[in-house]
Amino acid sequence: MTMRALIAGCGGYLPERAVSNEELAREHGLDTTDAWIVERTGIRRRHIAAPGETASSMAAAAARRALERARLPAEAVDCVIVATATPDSAFPATAVRVQQHLGITRGFGFDVSAACTGFVYALGVADSLIRTGAARCALVIGAEVFSRIMDWTDRGTCVLFGDGAGAVVLVAGEGKGDASDRGILSTHLHSDGRHGDILYVDGGAGSNGACGKLRMAGKEVFRHAVSKLAAVVDEALAANGLGHEDVRWLVPHQANLRIIEAMGKKLRLPPERVVVTVDRHANTSAASIPLALAEADASGRLERGDLIVMEAIGGGLTWGAALARY
Ligand code: UT7
Repeated sequence: MTMRALIAGCGGYLPERAVSNEELAREHGLDTTDAWIVERTGIRRRHIAAPGETASSMAAAAARRALERARLPAEAVDCVIVATATPDSAFPATAVRVQQHLGITRGFGFDVSAACTGFVYALGVADSLIRTGAARCALVIGAEVFSRIMDWTDRGTCVLFGDGAGAVVLVAGEGKGDASDRGILSTHLHSDGRHGDILYVDGGAGSNGACGKLRMAGKEVFRHAVSKLAAVVDEALAANGLGHEDVRWLVPHQANLRIIEAMGKKLRLPPERVVVTVDRHANTSAASIPLALAEADASGRLERGDLIVMEAIGGGLTWGAALARY
């Protein structure tokens, strides 16, 4: 018998305010058009956090919904991991603030920093903790307020991102130890600091004491995305003795519809098996995969036993994939 981390419930939270491309351009005086943004990215709108909203408040809202779906009380949770690049503060960790929001006083919580790949990393850490018995019920959350690290004069980046949070409840369960098991089958994590300067935040508490703004060489990141995501998905399938034909769902990081469609084609999946939210959420960084998962779950599309591929790439560069059977 092998210990597995089973997906017990998913939940998402988006700030109330949805902003269309045209509204965004008008509000910030950007030299852009809805047509350009839709054609190059697939993005039509994004949600922007209200002044009082933070990564921890949104994470807690998503977590409450995930726990409801899992039919578990907050007291059942013994581990909270939040993937975020926009924490409320350097410390306490956003995850510990989430514990406080939810009234959890036992177990432990910490944050993971891997930019847009953060949720895949957090899933990998939670899976390891559950497999080794260090945790039995983990809340794995991606939560971001990228609107606060945008340079609103840079049309090349500020139209691409949005705010939100997504959460998944993982619970320990027994499996046979092969690819027919339910739960997280494996995670595959990579990083390469040589490409750190193509996507980064130009400041921080430990360097210049500033929050910093996001900087990206979009074309460069795009080029890495297409090759690295394809390779890491193949790596994940091969590690489990699975092929493209076994994949039921692609739940990708939502950065650009063109990248998502290229990955769907690579896996030979029909469009209806690729979960897309980038049109309505834009790129919510570490929150994008759990938000997409929550949307697919809430719509009743995911069936028990379905094989799900999750993949992401982001600042670092970091990239990775996770395979899970629902
Ligand atoms: O989540 C982390 C991972 N991130 C990603 O995966 C993002 C990957 N990159 C991308 O999605 C794309 O590269 C972008 C959407 C960021 C950009 O699309 P692109 O097709 O690579 O455009 P580009 O950066 O090469 O820019 C083409 C032109 C430029 O003008 P010139 O130099 O050709 O005259 C830009 O100045 O488009 C211009 N441009 C814009 N025009 C109107 C850039 N941003 C805008 C804009 N509106 N918002």
